[in-house]
Amino acid sequence: LTHLLSIEGLPRELIHQILDTASSFLEVSDRDVKKVPLLRGKSVFNVFFENSTRTRTTFEIAAKRLSADVINLDVTRSSTAKGETLLDTVDNLIAMHADMFVVRHAASGAPHLITEHLRRLGRNDVHVVNAGDGRHAHPTQGLLDMYTIRHYKKDFSNLVVAVVGDILHSRVARSDINALTTLGAAEVRAVGPQTLLPTAIERMGVRVCHDLREGIRDCDVVIMLRLQNERMNGALLPSAREYFHCYGLTPAMLSLAKADAIVMHPGPMNRGVEIDSDVADGPQAVILPQVTFGIAVRMAVMGILAGN
Ligand code: CP
Repeated sequence: LTHLLSIEGLPRELIHQILDTASSFLEVSDRDVKKVPLLRGKSVFNVFFENSTRTRTTFEIAAKRLSADVINLDVTRSSTAKGETLLDTVDNLIAMHADMFVVRHAASGAPHLITEHLRRLGRNDVHVVNAGDGRHAHPTQGLLDMYTIRHYKKDFSNLVVAVVGDILHSRVARSDINALTTLGAAEVRAVGPQTLLPTAIERMGVRVCHDLREGIRDCDVVIMLRLQNERMNGALLPSAREYFHCYGLTPAMLSLAKADAIVMHPGPMNRGVEIDSDVADGPQAVILPQVTFGIAVRMAVMGILAGN
């Protein structure tokens, strides 16, 4: 594996290898060993053209725990604002001896564009990790979500998983669904209004539910998504109140799932829109453990890309 652009197409064995590697890193950090030397002497550039709290920070922590030098490009203060192109920016960071780019971009395909550029330059020693591109993919979020599910549920083969909300605009949903179907989940449900589901979503191997009650019933795992207003280009949106009334996860709604169901959310949450605070802060929520697992999963991805 040279780059990680998407979960689509990754073999099941490789996904499990990444999760197993993450597990070993989590055990290391549990033993208070803060750093391992796998990326010593390497430079990891975090290049985020969209806002981030969890992904950017956990990539930074992960890279530092692997002993890499980490450079966070502040895109708002960079020469992108003066019209410098993405690939010119990349060329300049390569000239600063970048070994790995962690890239978030509003345009689907931007990390792929960088890998094609690296291929033309003959630089297969420089790695790219997609940290979320447009609506396309967010593979490390998908992997940390699979880590979380495996941690709490052990085996995927009997699991019913509901992915609920704005799937149309969600790169997390696409990565989660690809991962869950590859890992052999018993049933993956795509739950949301017609207007927020991609037209051919059944082709991804999911069962479509427009009714939240039907979508949640007897689930083992509920993955909630926020309304991605920034990607809706002025489309007529339901009000937050209307949306919460139909698709908000309340304790009453969650009681339709299995009693030991876990509730996940990639963040940021919009409380009172897609999720009630009593659920977000309740005993079934594993939303903050997801963030912690993200550090180990991102260590595993960067370690494997760097050839370790
Ligand atoms: N889950 C996620 O991508 O969160 P951030 O946007 O804060 O990175």
